[in-house]
Amino acid sequence: MLTIIEPFRIKMTEALPITTREHREKKLADAHYNAFLLNAEDITIDLLTDSGTGAMSTKQWAALMIGDESYAGSTSWHNFEKSVRDITGFKHIFPTHQGRAAERILASTRLKAGDVIPSNSHFDTTRANIEFIGAHAEDLLTADGENLYLDKHFKGNMDIGKLERIIESKGVARIPFCMITVTNNAGGGQPVAMENIIAVRKVLQKHKIPLIIDCCRFAENAYFIKEYEPGYKDKSLLAIAQEMFSYADGATMSAKKDGLANIGGFFACNNDAWADDFRNLLILTEGFPTYGGLAGRDLEIIAVGLKEALEYDYQHYRHATVQYMAKRLIDRGIPIVRPAGGHAVFIDAAGFCSHLKATDFPGIGLVNALYLEGGVRAVELGSVMFGRVTDGKEVPAPRELVRLAFPRRVYTQSHFDYVIEVLDQIWKDRAAIAPHTIRKQAPFLRHFTAHFDQGKVAIVSQKKAG
Ligand SMILES: Cc1ncc(COP(=O)(O)O)c(C=O)c1O
Repeated sequence: MLTIIEPFRIKMTEALPITTREHREKKLADAHYNAFLLNAEDITIDLLTDSGTGAMSTKQWAALMIGDESYAGSTSWHNFEKSVRDITGFKHIFPTHQGRAAERILASTRLKAGDVIPSNSHFDTTRANIEFIGAHAEDLLTADGENLYLDKHFKGNMDIGKLERIIESKGVARIPFCMITVTNNAGGGQPVAMENIIAVRKVLQKHKIPLIIDCCRFAENAYFIKEYEPGYKDKSLLAIAQEMFSYADGATMSAKKDGLANIGGFFACNNDAWADDFRNLLILTEGFPTYGGLAGRDLEIIAVGLKEALEYDYQHYRHATVQYMAKRLIDRGIPIVRPAGGHAVFIDAAGFCSHLKATDFPGIGLVNALYLEGGVRAVELGSVMFGRVTDGKEVPAPRELVRLAFPRRVYTQSHFDYVIEVLDQIWKDRAAIAPHTIRKQAPFLRHFTAHFDQGKVAIVSQKKAG
C-alpha cells in the first residue's frame, strides 16, 4: 500500500486545548513574547522538542507496573542492563537520570582544562559539560553538512581530514576521547553513515583515541543507514545499531529520545578503569549504580522503549511523517533545511522573514506568529539562542532557524496537516511578521528566560484554532 499509516491505534486520549486568537495574544504578552514562558495548557500543538515528550506503548505501561523499586540489584535494573547490552554490546552500563548527567560524569572523570574533544557537532549540553571543565569542544562537520540547502544524505558525517588535522595540531595527549552524535541534532538531525563511523574509528585507532557515541537517536540513525546507505537494506535496525556500537568504546544516551521514555539516560563503556571512575561519581551524584537516579519503573520503560524504537514499522512511519511535512512546506516555497532530519523540520527564518534583519530576531518573530496563528509552539535556533552580546552590541548567529520537533507517537497526520495550514497562512502574510527586541536577558542561555518587546507590524488574520 502507498499510504504509510501510524502503526498503532489509540487507547487513551489527552484533550488538546483549542484556544482563540484573543486568548493567545494575551498569553503571549503575559509570557513576554517568549514561547518558553507559555504554559502547556495554552498550546494546541507542541513541537518545542522531541525530548521526553513521546507517548508510551501498552507494553511500556505494563512494564511500568512491574517496576521493582528495590534500592540495589532490582529486577528492573537487570532488565534494563540486558536491553542496553543486547543493543550496544558494552561491558559496563550505568543508568543516569538523563543524557546530560552521563555527559557531566564522563567529562568530570576523563577531562582536564586544555583538553580537546572533537565531534561531528556537539549538542549544547555536551559542549557545556566539556567547557565547564575548561576543555574545548570542536565541531568537525563536513562542508556538505554546513550547507543548509544541499539535498544530500548523511550530512551529519564528520570530516575525516579535519579530524586528522586536529589530532596532528593538538596532539594525542590532549584528546582523551572523540565523540560522534547520531543523528546530529545540532546540525539539523542529519544522520551519520556507517562508512563515516568506520573511517572515524580507523583514524582514532591509529592514535589509540577512544570513540564515544552520543547515541540519543541511534535508532533513527540506523533507519537512515538501512534506507540510504548501500549494503544495509536487508539488515535489521537492531543489527545495524549493533554494528554502529561495535566501532565505539562507549556511549552517552538520553533515553528521552530513542528510549521512548519521558526521563532517563545511560553511560556505557568497555574500559574497566573508566567504569570504576564513573561508578564512584555516579554514586556520589546520581544514585546507586543499579538505579542511577531513576525509579525501577523508569528502567523497565526504557528497557522496552529501546527495543520498540528499533521496530522497522515505527521508524518507517516516523520518517514518513517528517518527510510528509517537509515536502508540503517545500511545495509551498517555504525555505527549510534539506533534506529533513530524523526528528524535526528546520525552517530558515531569515529566508522566511526576508523583511527582518538578524537583530530583529526573525526566528522569534516566526515562533510567535506560529503561536498566534494556530497555538503551535516551536523553538528558535538563531541569534537569540546562539548570538552573543559584545561591547553592548548584538553579534548575530550564522543562521536563523526555527525547529519544529516531532514528539514520538503523539500527533497524527491531521495534526501535521493543521500545522501545515498554519504555516501556509503565515507564509502568505509573512511581511506582517513582527520584529522583536530584547527587554531583559540572563547572562547565559538567555533564550529560556528572555523578555521581548514585539515591534509594530500587525500579524495575520483573526481565526480560531482547530
Ligand atoms: C544529541 C543530544 N545529546 C545530548 C542531549 C542531552 O540529553 P538530556 O536532555 O536528556 O540531558 C540531547 C538532548 O536534546 C541531544 O539531543
